[in-house]
Amino acid sequence: MNRITSFEQYQQEYKRSVETPEAFWAEQAEQFTWHKKWDNVLEWNFDEPSIKWFIGGQLNITENCLDRHLEKRGNQTALIWEPNNPEDEVRKFTYKELHSEVCRFANVLKKNGAKKGDRICIYMPMIPELTIAVLACARIGAIHSVVFGGFSFKSLSDRIHDADCNVVITSDGAYRGAKEIPLKNVIDEALLTCPSVKKVIVYKHINTEVKMESGRDVWWQDEIKNSSADCPAEIMDAEDMLFILYTSGSTGKPKGVVHTIAGYMTFVDYTFRNVFQYNDGDIFWCTADVGWITGHSYLVYGPLLAGGTTLMFEGIPTYPDAGRFWQVIDKHQVAIFYTAPTAIRSLEALGLDFVKPYKLDSLKVLGTVGEPINEFAWNWYNENIGKKKCPIVDTWWQTETGGIMISPLAGITKTKPGFATLPLPGVQPILLDEQGKELQGNNVEGRLCFKFPWPGIIRTTYQNHKRCKETYFETFKGYYFTGDACKRDEEGYYHISGRVDDVIKVSGHLLGTSEIENAIDQHPDIVESAVVGFPHEIKGWGIYAFVICEHERKDADALKKEIIETVTKNMGAIAKPDKIQVVQGLPKTRSGKIMRRILRKIAEGDLSNLGDTSTLLDPSIVEEIKKGAH
Ligand code: PRX
Repeated sequence: MNRITSFEQYQQEYKRSVETPEAFWAEQAEQFTWHKKWDNVLEWNFDEPSIKWFIGGQLNITENCLDRHLEKRGNQTALIWEPNNPEDEVRKFTYKELHSEVCRFANVLKKNGAKKGDRICIYMPMIPELTIAVLACARIGAIHSVVFGGFSFKSLSDRIHDADCNVVITSDGAYRGAKEIPLKNVIDEALLTCPSVKKVIVYKHINTEVKMESGRDVWWQDEIKNSSADCPAEIMDAEDMLFILYTSGSTGKPKGVVHTIAGYMTFVDYTFRNVFQYNDGDIFWCTADVGWITGHSYLVYGPLLAGGTTLMFEGIPTYPDAGRFWQVIDKHQVAIFYTAPTAIRSLEALGLDFVKPYKLDSLKVLGTVGEPINEFAWNWYNENIGKKKCPIVDTWWQTETGGIMISPLAGITKTKPGFATLPLPGVQPILLDEQGKELQGNNVEGRLCFKFPWPGIIRTTYQNHKRCKETYFETFKGYYFTGDACKRDEEGYYHISGRVDDVIKVSGHLLGTSEIENAIDQHPDIVESAVVGFPHEIKGWGIYAFVICEHERKDADALKKEIIETVTKNMGAIAKPDKIQVVQGLPKTRSGKIMRRILRKIAEGDLSNLGDTSTLLDPSIVEEIKKGAH
């Protein structure tokens, strides 16, 4: 397997990738199975934006994830599944078995009316059938839209609506530690407002009672029984859509980030092999849910494209106790472990007694993703989990980038606590000041942008190209803007400082403040709300909600509880506010815009320096809010 093996080679490859990007990426794409090779590697323009890779090429990504490996690796394990309950049976699939399951389910999809180009919503627990469903969609050329199982009915129905899905794949429920989550009930509620959905395929997983709507709902297990394992892959164009994945933005409506087949495939495969320095036989464990981009790229597609063995875990890090991650690493002899800083911080807080019983000697590489990792947590991870022998790759990227952009290459380039370090070959970062002027040299801090396309870049936001253009390509003309602030230190290493827009990273999950506000406003007593983030020791950022009530409520605690329930029901438990403050009014400008800067300062507990409040409609509101802050 071709990958970078020394720092000098990294430097050479980087240089080559900038000087001749098309030749560089064409070389990476050569190894794949193509029905027809591309005519042209790249056509792009960041103004529209219009970005196309491997134009004219024809392929199917599942042939590259599965069929391509059958001859050499047919009997090698492709997927290991560790259940929520450690007493339950582990499931393993060889490449041959996974191929056959994907084909069988692809035929089930076809039988249920799904076809090339359809959008299919997948709302499932972390079980092998989730991976199988994703790949089966890709097999028949349908576009998957996986919605994280932690989202509730309103978020789910918004996403199904936006993508106009005709099929939903789900299960009766999910296990989450000691809890059972009734997924099918959430689907039923969501579908009350989604007439486009004609079929719901339900996998029986927790054996709970569910309502099956006749003519619409079918059981996975019934449908798969006589389904043939012969399903030729649909031949797709390189720039056909592979999936839509919703991410939060600064409006209440989630954005459907669109990735297309060949570019995404090439980028994810390249970054997987190089960042993690994956070797044949390594067990790779990415703890992210497939409902997020990390799960798409580095639990499903990346490891399978590379012919690797990927581990999927259904449960949570603290069940049955806070040693579960480490127990699973020993049990399956995991070589590469990729997780979120939030998980590390929460396990670190629970103490070393949960780590000590485990050897962890199979580990070679550790990774983090999704949010900045503070130096303390980085050191804890390095010393107690990696035993100072495993390089830590702090990987910076986004749903929109498709794959890892800035990161050390494990054991090849230097690591630095708190730093994502250096761009990967093919990735051209640039720091701009607020006016869009390039900040040259080192020791500078600005807005992180990219000046040249990479194959995994977002192509559009589903059915709303204007939003894609406005969000990513208009702030700084001619550049892709990430929404992050970033520092380049004296050595040229990149450190991500955090978001500069109205989204919050809560436990590594990107949540839009207005989406949370919309959920809060569903409470009948709430007239208006404003949500901001505040630094949180474990979660990175917590959610602080300022709410205005229609009538005064004496039972403040009961009100807060109801608000939390409302958010959980409408959006999901991940968006529950940590702090709720009832206020008489919000600090608004004369034009009615909420001055979030002031609320952010108050939420952070920094009451001394609120900046200029003279443009506010009613500056006295600020005093009242300050008094009630906690
Ligand atoms: O703010 C950055 C943060 O996560 C954002 C992207 O979130 P999402 O699209 O949900 O994708 C997360 C998984 C790839 C970024 O704009 N972020 C991601 N990785 C890091 C990070 N912040 C600091 N360090 C990282 N390694």
